[in-house]
Amino acid sequence: MWRPPQKIKWKTHPAEWPTIEQAARSRLFSPVQLGPVRLATRTWVPAMVPWRATEDGFVTEDNIAWYARFASGRPGAIVLEATGIRDIPSGPLLRIGHDRFVPGLKRIVEAVREASHGETKLFIQIIDFLGIRRRPEPRKFIERHLGITDRHRAALSLPADAPDDAVRSALLALEPAQLDDVLDARELEGLRMGARERVTDMHLPHIRELPQVLPPLFASAARRAREAGFDGVELHYAHAYTIASFLSALNDRSDGYGGSRDARVRLPLEVYRDVRGAVGADYAVGCRFLSDECIPGGSTVDDARFYGVEFARAGMDFLSVSRGGKFEDAQQPEIGWSAYPYTGPSGYECMPHHVSDERGPFGRNFEPTARIRAAIRDAGLPAAVVVTGGVHGFSQAEELLATDRGDIVGFARTSLADPDWFLKVRSGQGRAVEVCSYSNYCEALDEKHKEVTCSLWDRIDLDTPGLRLSTDGKRRLLPPAWRAPGGDEESPAKRPASTAS
Ligand SMILES: Cc1cc2nc3c(=O)[nH]c(=O)nc-3n(C[C@H](O)[C@H](O)[C@H](O)COP(=O)(O)O)c2cc1C
Repeated sequence: MWRPPQKIKWKTHPAEWPTIEQAARSRLFSPVQLGPVRLATRTWVPAMVPWRATEDGFVTEDNIAWYARFASGRPGAIVLEATGIRDIPSGPLLRIGHDRFVPGLKRIVEAVREASHGETKLFIQIIDFLGIRRRPEPRKFIERHLGITDRHRAALSLPADAPDDAVRSALLALEPAQLDDVLDARELEGLRMGARERVTDMHLPHIRELPQVLPPLFASAARRAREAGFDGVELHYAHAYTIASFLSALNDRSDGYGGSRDARVRLPLEVYRDVRGAVGADYAVGCRFLSDECIPGGSTVDDARFYGVEFARAGMDFLSVSRGGKFEDAQQPEIGWSAYPYTGPSGYECMPHHVSDERGPFGRNFEPTARIRAAIRDAGLPAAVVVTGGVHGFSQAEELLATDRGDIVGFARTSLADPDWFLKVRSGQGRAVEVCSYSNYCEALDEKHKEVTCSLWDRIDLDTPGLRLSTDGKRRLLPPAWRAPGGDEESPAKRPASTAS
């Protein structure tokens, strides 16, 4: 992953933990309404892909155990990882593109209800993404994948009737740097990064038709989510994926879905309208979108303020704000791997590492989120705003709420480091929290599509009989259960009184 050149090392500072009484009086542990859904507390586990699905997108026992483990810490809400809306092979990512996926998803819903004693609400993040190829062997790319044109013949000073094989041989004889003068930008990208589709590839029929294809796909996925028992859906409009690319300032489609902000927000609003039509008014629907793309020429917080108001005005119940995470500035992957949108400067903004710049890794998204929320409130709209990014301490979270920078606080890596953060802090046991170090060990596993775990717990008591281990056999897949002082983790007496309605 890219790191800021300043290389300033930051340490987490959770500050004072509250007593049980202070926690009970806090904003963080007070209820909040998201349209029809009431969260018992303003704590939120944002979507995180743990790489535990089957190759064909089904829920596994490890998925179920993972979400049950998070739910046992009783956050106000968990958002299930990005789950694909299409019925197409997409590796071990969860899918919801067909009714056959519903029974497995239902089992996660049931496990979360049981483990949280009915307190934690469960949302599912639904996603569409475009095609991306792995970075090829250069020879293979030139021999097989590159479409030969007269432009190549001219650049290589070959006769207009030179056969394709002669052009390929001439290309193979060049030094890598000389290819810069012969191949165009997209061909060079195909060679050096792996070819990647864009929403602006209007010459491709399936890309041209996205505005017709995506609303019903999202709507069917949302209908299945409701059927599976989720409390709501989060439309993935963030990072490097299809809808975020429509919102991007780089989207210059000329079919009324690109160019101006009004045109760029059109498809995301049409998707929402169809989703709402499929699930009804009494179901929670929101989205995750970016406060800033953090790439040259990309959308900024001014665009995000506009989008936030449009989404809230259309009727979304919540808006979860992320940042960066784009392909445009991703680092070159190794041969045989595809580009990962969290490896460049925009990726850093999405999941900042503890080695940072003067601004540090904690809170880079706080002010932009506050500005989006202010625009929504100025427009008189009630959508709840989830603020996320580097939150690990109670006072830090409490201050975000006190200063109107969000209505709900997201704890992603913090909850990976310690899914009992919520239960511990709420029951006056904050000192027992394992605080995330922001080493991005989890993110490195995500990049390699390995089961995501945390270095703070994945080597503990590996010889426990029956322990589920990662496929490399070296790591436990779940953190050990927390034993509250003077009791065991199963004891309801040790749990704070529920504020759930
Ligand atoms: C392993 C991992 C997987 C993630 N997967 C997703 C995802 O599926 N969808 C999403 O919107 N964000 C995803 N994220 C980003 C997080 O939701 C969150 O925005 C980011 O980690 C910053 O928040 P934090 O500082 O609280 O960790 C992922 C993050 C990690 C570490």
